[in-house]
Amino acid sequence: MNHPRDGRLDIESLRADFPILKLKVNGRPLAYLDNAASSQMPQPVIDRWLRYQTTQHSNIHRAVHHLSEVATAEYEAARRKVQAFINAKEEREVVFTTGTTDAINLVAHGYGRKFIGAGDEIVLTTLEHHSNIVPWQMVAEEKAAKIRVVPINDRGELVVEEYLKLLGPRTKLVAVGHVSNALGTVNPVREMIEAAHAKGIPVLLDGAQAAPHIRIDVQALDCDFYAFSGHKMFGPTGIGILYGKAAWLEKMNPFKGGGDMILSVSFEKTAYNVPPGKFEAGTPPIAAAVTLGAAVDYINGIGIEQIHARETDLLDYATDKVNRLPGVRIIGTAEKKAAVLSFVVDGVHPHDVGTLLNEDGVAVRTGHHCTQPVMARFGIPATSRASFAFYNTHDEVDALVDGIKRVQKVFK
Ligand SMILES: Cc1ncc(COP(=O)(O)O)c(C=O)c1O
Repeated sequence: MNHPRDGRLDIESLRADFPILKLKVNGRPLAYLDNAASSQMPQPVIDRWLRYQTTQHSNIHRAVHHLSEVATAEYEAARRKVQAFINAKEEREVVFTTGTTDAINLVAHGYGRKFIGAGDEIVLTTLEHHSNIVPWQMVAEEKAAKIRVVPINDRGELVVEEYLKLLGPRTKLVAVGHVSNALGTVNPVREMIEAAHAKGIPVLLDGAQAAPHIRIDVQALDCDFYAFSGHKMFGPTGIGILYGKAAWLEKMNPFKGGGDMILSVSFEKTAYNVPPGKFEAGTPPIAAAVTLGAAVDYINGIGIEQIHARETDLLDYATDKVNRLPGVRIIGTAEKKAAVLSFVVDGVHPHDVGTLLNEDGVAVRTGHHCTQPVMARFGIPATSRASFAFYNTHDEVDALVDGIKRVQKVFK
């Protein structure tokens, strides 16, 4: 495990933890700038997966034999690590899911289908990922409820005055991203939660793009729900978290039915388990949960504040360099941003930008980033998006900038 030296990160030694960063792509050193889609796993986290599989694996909660007890203890220890990571008050407020999408669907079914009725309103924002739109549209359609949408300005910031106007007596939920995956905007969620709570409205935060980059304190935020994914925070795919206030989790309907979410079953009546078991039907992703615990340890070993400072430096450096390129426009220029640089190159489709950058070993994502309403707002079909993790370097940003210049030459 590496430790910050004199308050600064030793990036070279941290990079050495990530075997995949040594890859060459098309004969060039890989510059992995697609961390918002999925980040990479360091060796200690990979090792944790292997150790679990080779010495600890069994199904959990259902046997008294040695391995089942060990696996259960490790799974529950991972829950406590996540609890501490987000400062949840109680262990039972941390539900393992398969990802952010699964976590939001859980709330849409468990809360939405129970507490939202005809004529009620759900407040979303233009910035939302499709995962925080579609589940609510499904509830709205089923219940004849309405979706209300907070607009954004030309910088990609939420128009808070409009948000405040949308909160009314029929509002049953606000669901908003903490950080936008398409533009990097950090939303004023604390303020938004306070305003919603003043009217008795619960708030769900989609934290998929926040958890790897900024400190999450669900008690300080006072959010009712917080969803995030393991694979975006140096952990494996197939695991995510739903934080929910205990009072809500107790009142909500279960999402999926099956093993582990019951206390007793008969054909006359089934009694549900208490949270979090109530929401963890079937065999959960045990190995992935345990490994996520190691990812949390890894982040803590560096320090999330150090990570944030490093990524801010990278983003500032990249923003400055890309801003100097004639014919390139940054989409998303909010005052508060995290780790994401979306841009368009005049006269070149983003897919062509991405394809040519790939020839240079530079991995960026191109497309609508599952945020078609954001693209519609800016009147563009897609962007190219570089997204940073602490292990990225100024050299990699330079490779991106040189690559964009080459794209412009090719398409001149
Ligand atoms: C803001 C945001 N919400 C939700 C998701 C969905 O996450 P997952 O695919 O891990 O469920 C993503 C993934 O890109 C995201 O960036």
